[in-house]
Amino acid sequence: MADRIAEEKIDQIRQAVDVVEVISDYVQLKKQGRNYFGLCPFHGESTPSFSVSPDKQIYHCFGCGAGGNVFSFLMELEGISFQEAAVKLAAKVNIDLDINLPSANGGKKVSKELQSMLDAHELLRKFYHHLLVNTNEGQHALEYLLNRGFTQESIDKFQIGYSLNSWDFVHKFLAKRDFSPESMEKAGLIIKRERDGTYFDRFRDRIMFPIFDRHGNTIAFSGRSLGADEPKYLNSPETAIFNKSKILYNYHLAKPSIKKLQHAVLFEGFADCIAADRSGVENGIATMGTSLTDEHISLLRQSIQSITICYDSDKAGIEAAYRAGNHLHEAGFQLRVAMMPDGQDPDEYIKKNGPDKFRQEVIGASLTWMAFKFLYFRRGKNLQFEGDRLSYIEVIIKEISKLNKAVERDHYLRQLAAEFSLSLEALQQQQKQMFFDEKRKSNGKNEIFHKPIVMAKPVEELKPAHYTAERCLIAHMLKSRDVAYKVQELLAGETFNSDEHQAIITYLLAFYEDHLELDTSAFLIYLQDDNLRRMVATIEMMSINDEVSDQELTDYIKQVLNYQKMLKIKEKEVELKEAERQSDFGKAAAIGLEINQLRKLL
Ligand code: GTP
Ligand code: MN
Repeated sequence: MADRIAEEKIDQIRQAVDVVEVISDYVQLKKQGRNYFGLCPFHGESTPSFSVSPDKQIYHCFGCGAGGNVFSFLMELEGISFQEAAVKLAAKVNIDLDINLPSANGGKKVSKELQSMLDAHELLRKFYHHLLVNTNEGQHALEYLLNRGFTQESIDKFQIGYSLNSWDFVHKFLAKRDFSPESMEKAGLIIKRERDGTYFDRFRDRIMFPIFDRHGNTIAFSGRSLGADEPKYLNSPETAIFNKSKILYNYHLAKPSIKKLQHAVLFEGFADCIAADRSGVENGIATMGTSLTDEHISLLRQSIQSITICYDSDKAGIEAAYRAGNHLHEAGFQLRVAMMPDGQDPDEYIKKNGPDKFRQEVIGASLTWMAFKFLYFRRGKNLQFEGDRLSYIEVIIKEISKLNKAVERDHYLRQLAAEFSLSLEALQQQQKQMFFDEKRKSNGKNEIFHKPIVMAKPVEELKPAHYTAERCLIAHMLKSRDVAYKVQELLAGETFNSDEHQAIITYLLAFYEDHLELDTSAFLIYLQDDNLRRMVATIEMMSINDEVSDQELTDYIKQVLNYQKMLKIKEKEVELKEAERQSDFGKAAAIGLEINQLRKLL
């Protein structure tokens, strides 16, 4: 087996994969003209500035400048090497790469120890599941689950299991199979006793919920006690393979449904997630008992823009929903919040009311984010009392002030006016007042009132003419080998003013030595430097005419070369001033002459 992938293989992969198809696995793309657009996965944004060109097989973000081809996309997004990206892509298009890379685990290299941690989890997942469904020891646990409304089908689907009521069964089970106790302790499966250095099992007599990563590897467990044993849920500790703040329960199973519906439902606990799945809500996910992190959000953003929060409807759940909602709202998600009566959680609700009611009357009747906030701020207030009523109205007007769309502000102000029999004009006036007060108070610092929720496309900085001319020249040189050589000739040994531009044309001319035509994606592989790659992707996305006349080329070149002359003239003008200041009129006259001559060359 080889250690390197042959050039021809890379070419073959490059020609077989489609950049739009690959990126679609991570970013929602919409076609618009020749290109596709979506939200950039490399930086946070709420209006799409990320574009993909099927013709050129490249992507580019106008917002953050990310850009490249299908290889660099995977490398950047998954944090993998070029070879690993090639292996992934080859597998996608069934190209056989006879290459000696460590087993592709989501493309990441996996050390021996990590692999053994994963293997142990895999083995135990199967074993725990077997104990639950097939053995006498697991009988009482199975009955507990069935009593709670779990079905055989979901027990299989979620690979739920049971850990024996034993202090050392797992320890012996793993040791017999040559798993080192040190690694298994690091994996969180067994615990070392301080006093004598012996080991005991972490999970004993618990219902075992395997936690999968997004590739379907088992990376941790959560064990629920059967009785009143504390804690109710015992989780694996954070390990080299399990990072709670990055993991969403059920993401790997829910992903196809999430992509299809372009929507996910976020639960607080995984018992809820499983109950919802049983009710036909297959796009459910849950955090691992932590609050929603930035990492969770960026994972979600890879596939969707719209989420329903379905947390417990008790006090703690509503607070948590408010926090998660604010976080998601700020990240630009379209939000709804589903509520249940009497402080119930989804699992209880489904048991009491059945799957259809859950889908229709909870998920289907979820509130808009603003409507949820109306409810949220109303809690604990008695609106019969004038004081409570006024403070509630004030909070709501403040929330309305944060809305960027006049139509929305109008809508909610009217709602408020109707509910409390107030005059719309008065409310409007107070809302304006509040908006300006906040603005003044914050003096440009209060983010909520100043950060535009819909970000405008960042306008390309206005670049000097010579810079733009260089870019136009490169754009044409990328299109045609003849033009590239013509530009080289016209430059007559001079260089571009931007070092990066000069580097690009140097590579470009070298590339044309061996290639009659330029395939952008192939050229990006050839370039190797990330910064130059991004620049070429940006330039490729400029719209220029297909043809360029000699006159146009000469004009561009003039602008490039003139800049150098202008710099010279500026220098001379300073000298001239200095000479005049010193009353050295002879010198001044000579410099003046030089300046005139330089001007003539422009
Ligand atoms: P059931 O009581 O089995 O119905 O679970 P639930 O989903 O209703 O649990 P709850 O609403 O109490 O908690 C929601 C989530 O918080 C759970 O899924 C766990 O992830 C987490 N959690 C709850 N209790 C514990 C605990 O004792 N320890 C840890 N580490 N996490 C917990
Ligand atoms: Mn519950």
